[in-house]
Amino acid sequence: MDFTLSEEQLMIQQAARDFAQQELLPGVIERDEEQKFPTAQVKMMGDLGFMGMMVDPEYGGSGLDTLSYVLVMEELSKVDASASVIVSVNNSLVCWGLETFGTKEQKEKYLKRLATGEIIGAFCLSEPEAGSDATSQKTTAIDKGDHYLLNGTKNWITNGSSADVYLVIAQTDAKKKHKGINALIVEKDMEGFEIGPKENKLGIRGSDTHSLNFNDVKVPKENRIGEDGFGFKFAMKTLAGGRIGIAAQALGIAAGAYELAKKYSKERKAFGTEIMNHQAIAFKLADMHTQIEAARFLVYKAACDKDRHENYDLSGAMAKLYASQVAMETTVEAVQIHGGNGFVKDYHVERLMRDAKITQIYEGTSEIQKIVISRSVLRD
Ligand code: CAA
Repeated sequence: MDFTLSEEQLMIQQAARDFAQQELLPGVIERDEEQKFPTAQVKMMGDLGFMGMMVDPEYGGSGLDTLSYVLVMEELSKVDASASVIVSVNNSLVCWGLETFGTKEQKEKYLKRLATGEIIGAFCLSEPEAGSDATSQKTTAIDKGDHYLLNGTKNWITNGSSADVYLVIAQTDAKKKHKGINALIVEKDMEGFEIGPKENKLGIRGSDTHSLNFNDVKVPKENRIGEDGFGFKFAMKTLAGGRIGIAAQALGIAAGAYELAKKYSKERKAFGTEIMNHQAIAFKLADMHTQIEAARFLVYKAACDKDRHENYDLSGAMAKLYASQVAMETTVEAVQIHGGNGFVKDYHVERLMRDAKITQIYEGTSEIQKIVISRSVLRD
């Protein structure tokens, strides 16, 4: 498979790299420490077209392919995974879901503003008792004729308090199990919608993660996405693409840590020479480089499958499983190469290590990816 990047893709990659260095790097340590949402940077990313990268220009997007999106995710994540998850959720889960399955009216009303970054979105599937087991939805959306009455709690919602538009998955008819689930568009100011406490997290601390409560929220029928009962399939199809975005995030975290470790190994001296001259360090860098290249191929392959309109459930799951494992292993080694300095915030690698962990958990844990992969390969 040929992954030679086009002139346009190279330009987009460079634009993301420049943005990350100039606008994300300054202040990234403080935002992490203070759990501060990168409001100004999100606005700039909207102006650069990063918030609706794959959306048709008719709806305010950049009209680019998935590979370009992955390149941007990788570059942003090298520096600030908190910023990149905001981009990932808005692009993969919210904009893609609305553009692919929404009505013309829904796209006019919501997608245009989401794709330009004027507003941002959140995807609400997880619940206190339904994380991996996503069909066990306890949030209910009772059909009341012209509207649904929404009640329940969602957990660990990225962009929880910063979003304006929330795609909420809820159970309408429990007897039908996953076929009785719907996806609804909820606006922040709808009566009965309440944002719960912010989570104090290990990593991606600049992104805001909240629980959400719905108390008799009246959601108009026209805010349902797709046919009655399509909600679970909507969530699964949307997450399949989301996993490519998170795989790219993991790849970026790994590559960012590797680049810092390589640079450090050329500067830091021990036993009379730069530490890169010690085989113990050189071999670590060799392993890291090899793993990152392998992860990159899987991530680009998944993106290209999506761009070619081929099934990407399997390739996306493999990309996420492997890239997130590489992110974890690589960042741990990057801290080790930095020695005592690696344990200090100023050197960035400890943050990347903390940020890496979530890529093995959200948008389907590594164990869930193995379910998707094993079911797919055993079906053949
Ligand atoms: N595309 C389309 N349909 C799909 C699908 C896909 N990729 N995967 C499953 N389905 C369909 C199945 O075909 C089935 O429908 P039918 O009965 O009509 O055939 C239906 O969905 C149920 O599928 P399963 O029987 O396979 O369901 P399951 O209970 O065994 O669960 C699972 C499957 C893959 C484990 C799923 O529950 C899952 O993905 N769980 C993880 C959920 C997850 O990723 N949560 C992350 C939260 S979102 C988040 O993190 C966002 C954030 O803020 C960053």
